[in-house]
Amino acid sequence: MAVQWQAGWLSPKPVTDILRQTGDWAMRFLVITLAVTPLRWTAHWNKVYAVRRMLGVTALLYTLAHLLFWFWQQDFDWGPIVMEMVLRTYLSVGLAATLIMVALGITSNDWGVRKLGSVGWNNLHWWVYPAAIASLVHYFMLIRLNAFEPALMAGLLALSAGFRFLRKRESDFTPLSLLALAALGGLATALIEAGYYAYSTGVDVHRLLEANLDFTYEIRPSWYVFGAGVLLAVLRILRKPAVMAKRTARVSPSSR
Ligand code: HEM
Repeated sequence: MAVQWQAGWLSPKPVTDILRQTGDWAMRFLVITLAVTPLRWTAHWNKVYAVRRMLGVTALLYTLAHLLFWFWQQDFDWGPIVMEMVLRTYLSVGLAATLIMVALGITSNDWGVRKLGSVGWNNLHWWVYPAAIASLVHYFMLIRLNAFEPALMAGLLALSAGFRFLRKRESDFTPLSLLALAALGGLATALIEAGYYAYSTGVDVHRLLEANLDFTYEIRPSWYVFGAGVLLAVLRILRKPAVMAKRTARVSPSSR
């Protein structure tokens, strides 16, 4: 972003451009952070857990930068800033998400885990979901024309939530349940996108849903979410035998 600004590639309102870009990246990192656990479960890839806190803190840092650029856009005029935050719903919702993320960020270190204990820490960090939902509401309230990325982010979050729900019911995922989840995630994304356009433009929801089957112009976000779910199912199929073989070798020394 700094390079874009320095090189003059931004619009005549660079502060607004950076405000939008930092908002986009805050949302993306939040979604990526929540994708870590499903990836760990399906790919049996424990090492990926090591970067989860780092990714969450990155989402927080982008959010704080986003907030700073909003203050800048408002010329650091604190009276109107406070008024706007209270009176404009999309800003109040964004503020709620930010405050939750700050609380999570402060405790995202070894001190936080020690102080809260693992149960307390997990209970507190469950709040990442309300923060993500509030961020999404903020995002949807700000869509100017194209709902592609907000729908994609909403769909990926729904998929992550679906994994957690499934995990509570099955101790280990079967490829079939993962494929069903991928299909449900894609469907949820199509419904969210169509629902948004139907609400904001009044176009018939059936026609909007049919657009998901037309590939001439653009592949709709529902297919990307479905693809992400299928990818995790494939990882589960490919990785499971290798992980099981490794575990057996560790347990029985005679197999060495
Ligand atoms: C107090 C907290 C927040 C304030 C004051 C705030 C303010 C704003 C404003 C004014 C815009 C509109 C920019 C424009 O189009 O002119 C915006 C857009 C956006 N914000 Fe926030 N925001 C806050 C928190 C968050 C959080 C927590 C997230 C996500 C983690 C977020 C993500 C976004 C996204 C994705 C956009 C749309 C960017 C685009 O148009 O491409 N915001 N925010």
